[in-house]
Amino acid sequence: MDLATVILAAGKGTRMKSKLPKVLHNVCGSTMLSYVIDSAVGAGVKKIIVVVGYGADVVAREVGVRAQVAHQAEQLGTAHALMQAGPFLSDFKGRLLVLCGDTPLIESRTLLDLIRSHRSSGAAATVLTAIMEDPAGYGRVVRDNQGGVVKIVEQKDASPEEKQINEVNTGVYCFESEGLFEDLSTLSPNNAQGEYYLTDIIEMNVRRGRRVGAVTLENPMELTGINDRAQLAEVERFMRGRILKDLMISGVTVIDPHSTFVDRKVKIGRDTVIHPFTFIEGSTVIGEDCNIGPGSRLINAVVGNGVSIQNSIVTDSSMEDGCSIGPFSHLRPGNTLGREVKVGNYSELKKSVVGDGSKVPHLSYVGDATIGKNVNIGAGTITCNYDGRNKWPTMIDDGVLIGSNTNLVAPVKIGARSVTGAGSTITRDVPEGSLAVERAKVKVIPDWDKRDKKKKD
Ligand code: UD1
Ligand code: CA
Repeated sequence: MDLATVILAAGKGTRMKSKLPKVLHNVCGSTMLSYVIDSAVGAGVKKIIVVVGYGADVVAREVGVRAQVAHQAEQLGTAHALMQAGPFLSDFKGRLLVLCGDTPLIESRTLLDLIRSHRSSGAAATVLTAIMEDPAGYGRVVRDNQGGVVKIVEQKDASPEEKQINEVNTGVYCFESEGLFEDLSTLSPNNAQGEYYLTDIIEMNVRRGRRVGAVTLENPMELTGINDRAQLAEVERFMRGRILKDLMISGVTVIDPHSTFVDRKVKIGRDTVIHPFTFIEGSTVIGEDCNIGPGSRLINAVVGNGVSIQNSIVTDSSMEDGCSIGPFSHLRPGNTLGREVKVGNYSELKKSVVGDGSKVPHLSYVGDATIGKNVNIGAGTITCNYDGRNKWPTMIDDGVLIGSNTNLVAPVKIGARSVTGAGSTITRDVPEGSLAVERAKVKVIPDWDKRDKKKKD
């Protein structure tokens, strides 16, 4: 193994103006840092070290077992950050890829190009550069007349002429590990920010007569470093486009990519159509031949084939093939729906199991309920699951018909094939095959419309 990666992720990200460490901000539902780790893994790197500092505990938790974690107690600059990985690489000889935790769009392919170029040129260091229309904020790549890299100057240290350069340092490098850490330890923080700059290692190599290579990116967007929330939104937009394109190429119809928001981990089957104004988030999995949206939000949903979800919200719930949800349904966390279940207009479900072919078609609240197969829940049915202290379950067995506007006061069980009369408040269990009605007699007073006239007479 002659390839290792250090990901610098100790900075606070002051310009984000956030309590959260910068690298933990999300782009399409995954942290910036997770994208960078994925790219390194995708490029075949086995040994990965993430340098953490600000918010070390939470950042280390996000890294988990995917990489080793080095600590930078004080954020004294990018060179100082890289040095903290030294002890993890004492036995390592080979190429060291250095990445930043705040460039989530970086692709494995690009890293492989960089490594290939570095190997074939025999350079001591190779820097990945990009031509930016607006290079403001980035370090500029200074080249000599022959086009060789001379040094990298940070924006804050650049002369007016150097500020005109639009080739920038992306913060991604490939180094020969041999001697690198000794060189790093000789750098000094003589610059505008008083920091140990990793970029200074480039000039040091040039001065010592070692080869310094550069690979220039064709698509500079890929290396946008996120420093503030405006850049975060820009990167999110780009990533969203990439995700949607991959989905479309794989056979999913996205009617309007501009109003469709799909997180990176989401999986969607072929011939499913995503309608506008739809958000599909977290670890949602959707089958084939579904119609999702318009106007829907799915968070960690598991959806079978041939399902329709319109103008609805589904959170942490699953449903099998042929279900129909909405318009205007709310599936709160913890629902399990069988095949061909219908949850219709203005119905809310929570922590409930609904069997095959059952329907909750209109204006109902179903919470903590277990509903069997082919049950029909009439319009306006409420499971009264909360007594002010505790939540109680409702059981509705196969083939039950719940009349409209029924209150089911839990805990309560309605036996198979039973019927409840419309408007009933059911406070005790109903055995199977029964009719349960709770209703005051209707009193009819005739000639009510003439009552005022009678009084006058
Ligand atoms: C850095 C480069 C700049 C380049 C730009 C690309 C230096 C001196 N400058 O500038 O040439 O154009 O990236 O995006 O390297 N970090 C630490 N510890 C520290 C300081 C930073 O771990 O003490 C980490 C940050 O968490 C971040 C990365 O290093 O992931 C880059 O730091 P940042 O402050 O964003 O550097 P830039 O000013 O953007
Ligand atoms: Ca940066």
